[in-house]
Amino acid sequence: MSRWLVTGATGMLGRDMCLALQRHGEPVTALGHRELDITDAAAVAGRLREHGPDVVVNCAAWTAVDAAEQHEAQALAVNGTGAANLAGACARQGARLVQISTDYVFGGDQPRGYAEEDHPAPLNAYGRTKLAGERAALGLPGAGYVVRTAWLYGAHGPNFVAAMIGKARAGSPVRVVADQRGQPTWSLDVAAQIVALIRAGARPGVYHATSTGATTWHGLAREVFRLAGADPGLVEAVPSAAYPRPAARPRCSVLGHGGWARAGLAPIGAWDSALALAMPVLLAGR
Ligand SMILES: NC(=O)c1ccc[n+]([C@@H]2O[C@H](COP(=O)([O-])OP(=O)(O)OC[C@H]3O[C@@H](n4cnc5c(N)ncnc54)[C@H](OP(=O)(O)O)[C@@H]3O)[C@@H](O)[C@H]2O)c1
Repeated sequence: MSRWLVTGATGMLGRDMCLALQRHGEPVTALGHRELDITDAAAVAGRLREHGPDVVVNCAAWTAVDAAEQHEAQALAVNGTGAANLAGACARQGARLVQISTDYVFGGDQPRGYAEEDHPAPLNAYGRTKLAGERAALGLPGAGYVVRTAWLYGAHGPNFVAAMIGKARAGSPVRVVADQRGQPTWSLDVAAQIVALIRAGARPGVYHATSTGATTWHGLAREVFRLAGADPGLVEAVPSAAYPRPAARPRCSVLGHGGWARAGLAPIGAWDSALALAMPVLLAGR
């Protein structure tokens, strides 16, 4: 058993992280944005001294991908400097840091997908700021973990699957991009994977906490409609060009899972099986 501290604890992943820890009987201090602003180095140091965690999971982030294009300095303050503040405080306290990161650190032009050790080349400001956070965590000697995830959905907070459930329930037709590939991932699966990682005493480094298999946003939307009892034919495939956005998105951000095997752990399962398991929880909560 370890003493855990979760930052960003009221966000989508933060809430499931706390839930997974409680289910595993691990003691957790949950700090939302109001209890701890990770851009405030003195506050971060004070909270870590106060609670003395063995493991800090940083679920706090600037997650507004498009807004980061215009506000990169503010996004960097949270995603880069905030992570560095936590890494510094963890180093002083002898705690381990799990920094959550993203597939958006990659360019998305690699059809075979990306291994943990592949060279990051972000396409947008959000990805650059998240890469700065990775570097801060990996600079923590012998105690820094980077857990990259992608295409997250969960019971707490707005996300693509929740939006599609709303459309399916209304029986509304919807146009969804069909030329970006990724791995839809349930935030509760990511949380359980992080618990397993630390409990197994896995080596610090980079891990990819995404579902296996891959699909497009269009494929995901069709599956949500099907599972919600609506007609998948209501989901029309369109190219990304139909929805121009301020931030460029990777075309193919499929992540490899070799890190789990090296740690003697199984990766998260197939995206469609995970979605089928999550759907009753997601439908009940909306
Ligand atoms: N969602 C995805 O599809 C996805 C994909 C890949 C990676 N990720 C990564 O997964 C992690 C969790 O994302 P999420 O989807 O759970 O995001 P989320 O729901 O937006 O949660 C982020 C949390 O961080 C808090 N926060 C923002 N600035 C903060 C600060 N300065 N100090 C402390 N807390 C702060 C937010 O609080 P307020 O709302 O009160 O500001 C929010 O509760 C992030 O690292 C994200 O980059 C997400």
